[in-house]
Amino acid sequence: MSHMGTETKDFRQEVLIGREEIRERVAGLAKEISADYKGKKPLFVGILKGSFIFLADLIREIDPGIGPQVDFMEISSYGAGKESSGQPKINKDLSIPIGGRDVIIVEDIVDTGYSFKALLAILGSRRPASLKTCALLSKPGRREVEVPIDYLGFTIKDEWVEGYGLDTDQDYRGLPDVVCRKEIG
Ligand code: IMP
Ligand code: MG
Repeated sequence: MSHMGTETKDFRQEVLIGREEIRERVAGLAKEISADYKGKKPLFVGILKGSFIFLADLIREIDPGIGPQVDFMEISSYGAGKESSGQPKINKDLSIPIGGRDVIIVEDIVDTGYSFKALLAILGSRRPASLKTCALLSKPGRREVEVPIDYLGFTIKDEWVEGYGLDTDQDYRGLPDVVCRKEIG
């Protein structure tokens, strides 16, 4: 991926979205979701691995009265080139049946849109009562397929980000802020 071309160059990390801004936005999203799901018992499906910190923060801001539940799923990432091969590989499937459930898919970032598109097809075929999407970040400039994002934290421009659960080759997930890379020199 062209994104990864910076690997061998020197770079510094610049805070794009700071922890306090994230905290406020996550609380806002949780408030919105809590209001929309009053009287239901939504199941939050975190997409591994990138969403784990976002979901951990989000669920703690959800009104405990609505009785939210959590499960996780991991699919192998795939891009436009593999679209014709159909469904992506499920590396880890849910352990909770979702038939009749109100499901919210939680992603770290929507880039080309292929992951959400595939997840909506896979989970939609299991006949949930409702199926919505939530993402911390979206890069609309990179979209190749249109996908609905019902709850969105931040829109960002087309630049590689890491931290707050997001990685570059498995590194930097633990950074408390969302940072972007600036090449030096
Ligand atoms: P999509 O299927 O192209 O929408 O890809 C979404 C996935 O690509 C996300 O769940 C991330 O794992 C990964 N991704 C896309 N952009 C970034 C980024 O800037 N930083 C880290 N991961 C990213
Ligand atoms: Mg991911």
